[in-house]
This record gives sequence, C-alpha cells and structure tokens, in this order.
Amino acid sequence: MDYEEIKADVEKVLSEKRFTHSVGVAKKAVELAKIYGVDEDIAKKTAIAHDVAKEITKEEKLNYAKEHNIEVDEIESAKPSLLHGKIGADIAAKKYGFSEDMQNAIKFHTTGRANMSILEKIIYVADKIEENRKGKKVDIEKARELSKKDIDETIIFLMDESIVYNIGKEGLVHPKTIEARNYLLMHKN
Ligand SMILES: [Fe+2]
Ligand SMILES: [Fe+2]
Repeated sequence: MDYEEIKADVEKVLSEKRFTHSVGVAKKAVELAKIYGVDEDIAKKTAIAHDVAKEITKEEKLNYAKEHNIEVDEIESAKPSLLHGKIGADIAAKKYGFSEDMQNAIKFHTTGRANMSILEKIIYVADKIEENRKGKKVDIEKARELSKKDIDETIIFLMDESIVYNIGKEGLVHPKTIEARNYLLMHKN
C-alpha cells in the first residue's frame, strides 16, 4: 500500500487528535530519516501507522492478542494500553504489508528494546518529539535539538526523563526500556 492509502486507512480508526499526532510523527520521521540515512518513504509509512491500534479498547486489545497469538507479558497484562505496539505491528503487517523492520519499529515504539535498528530508533524518537507534543514529561526542546545530532543520546535522554516521571507517579517501567537504555549506555563510543 502506498503512503496516502495507509494514511487514509489510519484516519478512519483514529480520533482527530491522535491522527494529527500521527501526521506529526510522519513529518518528524522524514526529517530524522534524512539526517540518519534511512529511506524516507519507509520512515513515513511506519510513522503514520505506528498508533493504528491505539484506540481499540482494553478488552479488544486482550482479545486481539489472544486470537492472533500475540504474547502478553506481565507488564502488558497490568497495562494493556502497552499492547498497541504489538497489535499495531500485526495489523500493519497484514493490512499494509509492512516488512519485519517496519513491524518492529511499531512493536517497540513505546518501550524500546536492546539493539534497536535505526528505523526503530527514528520511530521511537519521532513519536516523542513531533511538533504537536507538549512535553509535560520531558524537556522536549532539548530532545528536539539533540535528535539532530545524536539519536542514541536522544533516546537515553528521553528514557531517563520517562523513567523519572514514572517513578514520580509510582508508574510501572517496562524491562525492555531498561534493557534498551543499558544497551545504549554500554555501546556508547
Ligand atoms: Fe503509541
Ligand atoms: Fe504515538
């Protein structure tokens, strides 16, 4: 499916606010793709679809996971909203024919994971710093500046801020986020 077709399909299942966010993520993903040498069309398609499963209900998410053999870990069963990555990736594969790398970028856009591909990093970052984000959790302007120079440092910064934010409100931190952060810190040059 081409970008415009995917965009039209996504628009049907998202609220106006979330769709605007998705368009913002696509725009930011293209900017980052240019900087980091990633295919812009692939970045744009992945970005516009990243939240395709965001607005299905909790119950539907758990049912979808069961029906499509999607593994639900203990953090996800406590917080099913996290499943929108895995479910979104499954939808994008079946409906839009997304590649493995594009699916992974959607799957891990909320938690991150160790050893992310450059496309995964771009989608992770674009989701958090796109122009419509207000950044109540993070110093978003700092992240926006950082993203032009060093995507790994940007991810470490975003994860630090998000972990601290979650600690402040007794929120759960997904182990994949810790793994992603440790990996980046250990592979810093
Ligand atoms: Fe999301
Ligand atoms: Fe998002």
